[in-house]
Amino acid sequence: MASMPKIGAIILAAGRSTRMKSQISKVLQPLCGKMVVEYPYSAALSLNLSPIVIVASQENKEELEKLSKVAVQEKPLGTGHAVMSAKNAISGKCEYLLIIPGDVPLLRQSTLELLIKTAVENSSACSLLTTEMPDGASYGRVIRDANGDVKAIKEAKDASAEELMIKEINSSVYCVRTKWLFEALEEVSPKNSQKEYYLTDIVKIAVSSGQKVSAVCITDHDEVMGINTRKELALAARIMRGRILDELMDNGVGIVDELHTYIDIGVKAGVDTVIYPHSFIRGKTVIGKNCKIENGVVLDDAEIKDNAHIKPYSVLEGAVVGENAVIGPFARLRPGTVIENNAKIGNFVEVKKSLIKNGAKANHLSYIGDAVIGERTNVGCGTITCNYDGEKKHRTEIGSDVFVGSDVQFVAPVKIGDGAFIGAGSTITEDVPANSLAIARGRQVVKKGWKKSD
Ligand code: UD1
Ligand code: MG
Repeated sequence: MASMPKIGAIILAAGRSTRMKSQISKVLQPLCGKMVVEYPYSAALSLNLSPIVIVASQENKEELEKLSKVAVQEKPLGTGHAVMSAKNAISGKCEYLLIIPGDVPLLRQSTLELLIKTAVENSSACSLLTTEMPDGASYGRVIRDANGDVKAIKEAKDASAEELMIKEINSSVYCVRTKWLFEALEEVSPKNSQKEYYLTDIVKIAVSSGQKVSAVCITDHDEVMGINTRKELALAARIMRGRILDELMDNGVGIVDELHTYIDIGVKAGVDTVIYPHSFIRGKTVIGKNCKIENGVVLDDAEIKDNAHIKPYSVLEGAVVGENAVIGPFARLRPGTVIENNAKIGNFVEVKKSLIKNGAKANHLSYIGDAVIGERTNVGCGTITCNYDGEKKHRTEIGSDVFVGSDVQFVAPVKIGDGAFIGAGSTITEDVPANSLAIARGRQVVKKGWKKSD
């Protein structure tokens, strides 16, 4: 469109959230890695709308201020009142205004574009987004006249039995002319069953004053699903997960079982990577090409490079795994861990804030914390870095090509030179020079005839 007018957005997020039965406001509830309200907010941002104002309550304003400019609605007196609360932040700043409830995370950006286009092309005072639902439940119903023109919206709680049969519902997403909106809102009164100032009343106000009303009816009703209850939150998460997996599969990522794979929005994975069921992949995780992420794996903010293999039930948080590395099963990599290419971390091995260099191995039952393990070094079963003296953390530095026997403790700070050998069962408290053998354990004593014969 050549001369697009200035368009702002209000996101309504100050409601009481009674139906959620939670201490946390429904718009702040987590959904596939973001808060519910972040979805409509991101959509408004991507459309370059300005200003964007979130209407918050006293209770959730602190959280919402971290996201955006906020207008506080002191009391939750209804959606119409909520919009009024943003008047100072909005009026005079944009010709049209998109109003989006904060509880509709599945709304697509393309749908908002279509609504804006309809509003601007028809220069309507009020354009609403509607859809048909098999059961309109608690949604407001769209009342049309004999010509099919929108006449009003009736809230389910105020509707007659006949009106409740109407399948077309109000999504509560609108594109309105800003100046007209704030005039119309002056006329809204709380004369209804909920004693609230309903934003929906602006439709009949527009109709009765001869203003143009448009409606865009979309077919995918999931998009405008409002998250009012825990059940709706779970359902929206399922739909969102489906979208996330679809996009990954479109980009060549293999998903073994679509119904039981939990990947957050924003996670990236490369071609031919295969993800097995019951895995949770979250935060800023980035997975390379041709990786195998097996069942029950949990990845939080992890970076997995090409051809790496994460075996079942491994838990990685803030860790980097190099190319061709093999992790698990049952491994735990904690923040600050870097596993370089071709390295192996096996079952029941915990690694914290450590660098495991190229080709090094710790295959069984170990704790490696605040350590560097050199290239090709083999860490035997049951090895522990004693990194904590009760007050401070200390480092263990092990060179390349070191052989660490089983059940060794490194009492940090301690350094082991390249090519050294550490005897099994040693408690190493002093540095070991390169290419030497260190044994630090009590000698075996054999006392013959110890058991008295009868
Ligand atoms: C609203 C619509 C209904 C529509 C439905 C779609 C009204 C009166 N009803 O009903 O027609 O079918 O959305 O999902 O508008 N909010 C405030 N302050 C308030 C009240 C609400 O900021 O005082 C916010 C809520 O946080 C929420 C949004 O406005 O994000 C919608 O409010 P909600 O209570 O969910 O309205 P519904 O009953 O779902
Ligand atoms: Mg709602």
